[in-house]
Amino acid sequence: MKAFVHAYGELKVKDMNEPFADHGQVKVSLKTAGLNRRDVAVPGRRGDEAEPLILGSDGAGVVEAIGEGVSEFSVGDEVIVNPSLGWYENAEAPPKQFDILGMPDNGTFTETIVLPAEQLEKKPEHLSWEEAGVLALSGLTGYRALFTKGNLQAEDTLFIPGAGSGVATYLIQFAKKAGARVIVSSRSEEKCNQALELGADRAIDTNSDWSEELKDETIDIVIDSVGQATFNRSLDVLEKGGRFVTFGATTDDTVELNLRKFFYGQYKLIGSTMGSQEELHAMLEYIEQHEIHPIVDRSFLLDDAQSALDYLKASKQFGKVVLKVSD
Ligand SMILES: NC(=O)c1ccc[n+]([C@@H]2O[C@H](COP(=O)([O-])OP(=O)(O)OC[C@H]3O[C@@H](n4cnc5c(N)ncnc54)[C@H](OP(=O)(O)O)[C@@H]3O)[C@@H](O)[C@H]2O)c1
Repeated sequence: MKAFVHAYGELKVKDMNEPFADHGQVKVSLKTAGLNRRDVAVPGRRGDEAEPLILGSDGAGVVEAIGEGVSEFSVGDEVIVNPSLGWYENAEAPPKQFDILGMPDNGTFTETIVLPAEQLEKKPEHLSWEEAGVLALSGLTGYRALFTKGNLQAEDTLFIPGAGSGVATYLIQFAKKAGARVIVSSRSEEKCNQALELGADRAIDTNSDWSEELKDETIDIVIDSVGQATFNRSLDVLEKGGRFVTFGATTDDTVELNLRKFFYGQYKLIGSTMGSQEELHAMLEYIEQHEIHPIVDRSFLLDDAQSALDYLKASKQFGKVVLKVSD
């Protein structure tokens, strides 16, 4: 089978052995796979000596075979992959065995994948294959950050820097359906307009003076995954006592924090990461109930996965980037 791998410092499309569905496992013939920022970072984290690994965390496809003991799925079922490995029940933080699909285990940029049955979910019927393939990782991360950790309320005003981010396009939709006021920033005027079309109430230029622009707003909650480039500016516009949720640092992990300003402001800094299977189920129910569709910016063929990664790395997208694996 064809797969996009990181092998000995190189990224390439490679023929790999077909996996076999053992006890409790399901073999899925993938139709689409979704890109995440993590796929850009994984090669650097593995180094130049590492053996071949299939990249990718998100995917959707059709069940091709089932191992012994699997009763939840049948051949022909349409499914999506849950990349949050080993985290089933809701908890303050993931359990020790938690990992994300696509490192260290082989991921979804491949024609066929074998996973434990509990890592698969029925594909939401209202989604196309492209939409289903980009849903789980970002949708789940956004859902936990917004509702479980951020405790978003209908009367809240939410600020999201970096509107073009895949997760941000879920946050905008989820928060609007919950009745909150949503303000975003982007470095691109076009992405600001796309965010407004998606339902954001206000969109400002990331390079503007936020404290001036937003002086008429009361921001109750910030969800910032841009990291170093925006962290302190986001904190500056947050109302005293407000919640600051972070689950990513696209620009850099390290920030300088003025502690005095922070404790005088009595802010709450909240970390979040992915989510449990229970939260995934809640997110799937939420998107079905509100008929939410993932925003797919662009699709590439599996053979062209390198261009898809380059496109994401350059932050050109508004929403998600998808790989078409098979028809
Ligand atoms: N912990 C977890 O479980 C988890 C899960 C998912 C994602 N993440 C992390 O969360 C972050 C967001 O993920 P994603 O996939 O949604 O991201 P993404 O699609 O790659 O988008 C990142 C966005 O950040 C903004 N940005 C990039 N460089 C910037 C700069 N120099 N200044 C200001 N804004 C900048 C851009 O917004 P504009 O183009 O609109 O300006 C860009 O669209 C990533 O760091 C990712 O690794 C973590």
